[in-house]
Amino acid sequence: MTSIKGLLRTHHCGQLNGENVGQEVILCGWVNKVRNLGGLHFIDIRDKFGLTQLSFSDFKDDIKIIKEAALESVIMAKGKVSTRPEEAVNKNMKTGEVEVLVSELKILSKCDIDKIPFLPFGQIEATEDHRLKYRYLDLRTEKLQNILKLRSETTLKTRLCLDKAGFVEVETPILYKSTPEGARDYIVPSRVHPNKVYALPQSPQTLKQLLMIGGTDKYFQITKCFRDEDLRADRQPEFTQIDIEVSFSSASYIKNLCEFLLKELFPVSEDFTLPSMTYQKALEIYGSDKPDTRFELKHMIVTDLFTTSDFKVFSSVVESNGLIKAIFVPARLGQFSRKDTDGFTEVVKPYGGKGVAFYKVDQGKRSAGISKFISDEIHQKLESLSEEKGDGTWLFFADSNAMVAHNSADALRRYLGQNLNLIGEGYSFLWVHDFPLLDWDEDTSRFVAMHHPFTSPKMDEVEDFLNADVNDSQGALSKIKAEAYDVVCNGYEIGGGSVRIYDDKVQSQMFKALGMSEEETKAQFGFFVEALKYGTPPHGGIAFGLDRIMMLLAKTDSIRDVIAFPKTTSASDLMAASPSAITENQLKELNMKWR
Ligand code: AMO
Repeated sequence: MTSIKGLLRTHHCGQLNGENVGQEVILCGWVNKVRNLGGLHFIDIRDKFGLTQLSFSDFKDDIKIIKEAALESVIMAKGKVSTRPEEAVNKNMKTGEVEVLVSELKILSKCDIDKIPFLPFGQIEATEDHRLKYRYLDLRTEKLQNILKLRSETTLKTRLCLDKAGFVEVETPILYKSTPEGARDYIVPSRVHPNKVYALPQSPQTLKQLLMIGGTDKYFQITKCFRDEDLRADRQPEFTQIDIEVSFSSASYIKNLCEFLLKELFPVSEDFTLPSMTYQKALEIYGSDKPDTRFELKHMIVTDLFTTSDFKVFSSVVESNGLIKAIFVPARLGQFSRKDTDGFTEVVKPYGGKGVAFYKVDQGKRSAGISKFISDEIHQKLESLSEEKGDGTWLFFADSNAMVAHNSADALRRYLGQNLNLIGEGYSFLWVHDFPLLDWDEDTSRFVAMHHPFTSPKMDEVEDFLNADVNDSQGALSKIKAEAYDVVCNGYEIGGGSVRIYDDKVQSQMFKALGMSEEETKAQFGFFVEALKYGTPPHGGIAFGLDRIMMLLAKTDSIRDVIAFPKTTSASDLMAASPSAITENQLKELNMKWR
């Protein structure tokens, strides 16, 4: 690290060691601990680099000043570095072999210890809301400072890596127009243009494509995106993407690029490659397009085995063209009590599942649950589908709505992974591809884009797409696959992208398929469709969720841990109390009224 002169201190609080003994130093930092051992006074001074013991055995001024140095006050101490007496050496502390014999102490900023909401290094437990309200106190902790540093290192590595691969970082506007990524927009009213608004970008999708039309060739940006959607543990209303777009690229170029970048960011081997799996396969064996592949417990599709079952629940699911999935948990991985199997219902309920049928095999004998409906023949067929056989528990997920069966089996697989301690250390990546292009939304009776409306159908399906009847929910459109892909790691979707439509006719057909009228298309995307007509290179790209990458690198399951000033699950900033009201005057200027 280059040292630039002019700081108030000579060293930081994690720096001094035996080599500094005899030097006059100045340390600045927070009071971490104050001790008085039979008239010998000590203060541990702290900054983000560590702790140093200040000793007052040679202090000539009035010792009363120590009383004023309340915990978390900011102080400046001048003195000589001295070796600690042998019995006082602290091997667990970076600076543990030395102390500073203070000659001068200044209290730079006194902490109101009676009012401080919590001590960042104290024993008093604070709730998460309290910590968020006083985020600047929580930020003093080693955990959050380490994450901020890791995040800074990660963005730097990203920039260096993409620079090496020939990318140029370009900033795009934040005050913009709707960019559909499936969420609601955050809207900013315009003062200058009454009754008109900007939308904050859900991603720079159209802008990065326009950069390709503008000849930029290889673009990236580490950028904020804004989405008004239901928040979850891995979602924030404003989050950061590593956004990438490349002209004349194929899906395989993007995959190679991802491997190059992930190798730089994650501790993976030199010969690391991304294993691929189609969306369909991922759904079949994991019930999810973002499976945690660190453990097995794969799903089996067993619907056909129960066409003539006496178990009414299963046979009615077969009759209604539903889906039955099974998971086999070998006894060596876990065995379940009645309470456990009853509890499984609660796990699948939030996903629409009504319950989890099961039977057990113990020393080759079937028992419990639905065992009386399982014949030798069915049991043998089930075993022939399973990677493991023998003693254990067979679990079943049946529903007339196939997605409910997939989601329930996925939820229980994840639950068992956690509860049976099956999840190993390390990072397990997956490249999921061949997503459907469109999804039928029952609520609005319309197709919605599975990725976004700029995603190309697979090259050999473009003709079918152009010729398809856009009103037929069961017809050709519903079967067309997209040139789209996701990068998944440990059960998180950390990136998603696609090869783009670069033909204005295909793009117009896409807007039509999404139920947009010509007028709507023109008003919202006219500028973009026009740009496609003036020479557009084939292009594609991807965006990584930087916050999710940081969650994985920092090994935390809360996205709030990796963002300096995060929002709560109700999209509020508790510290600044935002969102907040605006004045009558501001409303007037914006030509707005609250309803
Ligand atoms: P997508 O919508 O898949 O694609 O987003 C890309 C990645 O961004 C992360 N992400 C989020 N992270 C935190 N909070 C959120 N609310 C949130 N939403 C998404 C995820 C996701 O994989 N424009 C396209 C990319 C492209 O096609 O190139 C896009 O934004 O990790």
